[in-house]
Amino acid sequence: MADFDVIILGAGAAGLMAALTAGQRGRRVLVIDHADTAGKKILISGGGRCNFTNRDVGAANYLSENRHFAKSALARYSQYDFIALVERYKIPYHERDWGQLFCDGSAREILAMLLAEAARGGVRINLGETIRDVRKADHFVIETSKATYSAPALILATGGPSIPKMGATGFAFEVAQRFGLPIVTPRPALVPLTAAGDDLALIGGLTGVSIQDTITSLGKRQFREATLFTHRGLSGPAILQISSYWQPGDTLRINLLPTVEAEDWLLGAKQSRSRAELKTVLTQHLPTRLATAFVPEAAQGKAVVDLPDKLLLALADRLHRWPFTPSGTEGYAKAEVTAGGIDTKALSSQTMEARDVPGLYAIGEAVDVTGWLGGYNFQWAWSSGWAAGMAV
Ligand code: FDA
Repeated sequence: MADFDVIILGAGAAGLMAALTAGQRGRRVLVIDHADTAGKKILISGGGRCNFTNRDVGAANYLSENRHFAKSALARYSQYDFIALVERYKIPYHERDWGQLFCDGSAREILAMLLAEAARGGVRINLGETIRDVRKADHFVIETSKATYSAPALILATGGPSIPKMGATGFAFEVAQRFGLPIVTPRPALVPLTAAGDDLALIGGLTGVSIQDTITSLGKRQFREATLFTHRGLSGPAILQISSYWQPGDTLRINLLPTVEAEDWLLGAKQSRSRAELKTVLTQHLPTRLATAFVPEAAQGKAVVDLPDKLLLALADRLHRWPFTPSGTEGYAKAEVTAGGIDTKALSSQTMEARDVPGLYAIGEAVDVTGWLGGYNFQWAWSSGWAAGMAV
């Protein structure tokens, strides 16, 4: 049996941050992962460029049963701390819309930086090791396919089950439950939404169409980004963002033309372009295939001047408030993250330690804190990982 001060399950973003932090504090750290490579999700993130944080991070950018929980960790290890680390490693990066920070080069640079920092802290990382049992005697005991290890502190950092083909599992939830920690029902988030029936007939015919500027709303929550039509439903950043809030049965409203007063435009076209067909008028602001699909049957082939105002006003309303009731989501196979997870009620927001199980910690995506698209999920991994790494 090998002894460590802390064992971390999961060599992803959160686990590596906790490991390097604890290691540099002089703790003897072992990280165990069943994958053959550390940080696989870091490598594929942000289209290979890793959207590693956001300039503007606050608890409002996260979903959780306790919307205050993330505040402490986010404040103690903030986006500025991570940016400073990236700059210390001279990793070139740039800012995109909404404060999103991406590497200029490759996500590999972020992973290499974390591994170098972990090495500086003397962290041992065991990859390709299947975890067979986790139990607590005096210390936590971890049995793997290769050996048995023990430590007085155990950090759960195995993430959530999104993208199972990359080795993602709900293992953290199982272990947490074994130790009596409650779980907020997990669900796929930042995920494409599917359509059925008439919606699918319309949307499926528009596969590949993308509208750069849309506003997708659900109640008071709204996101202004691109929407993409797929053969199964809708995707694109605006849809992924709202998907985290969507519950079965909810109807979204999509504004396909946020910069145009559609009523004035369409009624005005009766004077300015009176002989043009409605479809032709619509192509002024919409992709041709979308314009064609949105022409009401009663207006097919007719000049805009011959159409009743009522029809044009109804169309204007549809373009600004197109109702879409998803039939579901594309599930964990396509979900960028898992919402829900280990209930924050059971954890200290300062240290991420379980209130009733001394020495047990949970961090990253495994916890019921889920960020918006835009670098917020990595920032949560860094902040919660740092908090636990400082506490063990
Ligand atoms: P993470 O999933 O990173 O790590 C968990 C680790 O545990 C993995 O190494 C896994 O192999 C291991 N593990 C799982 N089960 C195990 C078991 N049973 N036994 C042993 N080991 C086990 N976020 C963001 O902020 N910016 C971005 O650009 C992106 N881009 C992005 C793209 C894609 C395609 C996806 C799927 C996700 C993103 N994300 C993102 C989300 C981000 O990747 C995610 O929130 C973090 O990786 C979560 O970090 P964790 O360390 O908690 O889990």
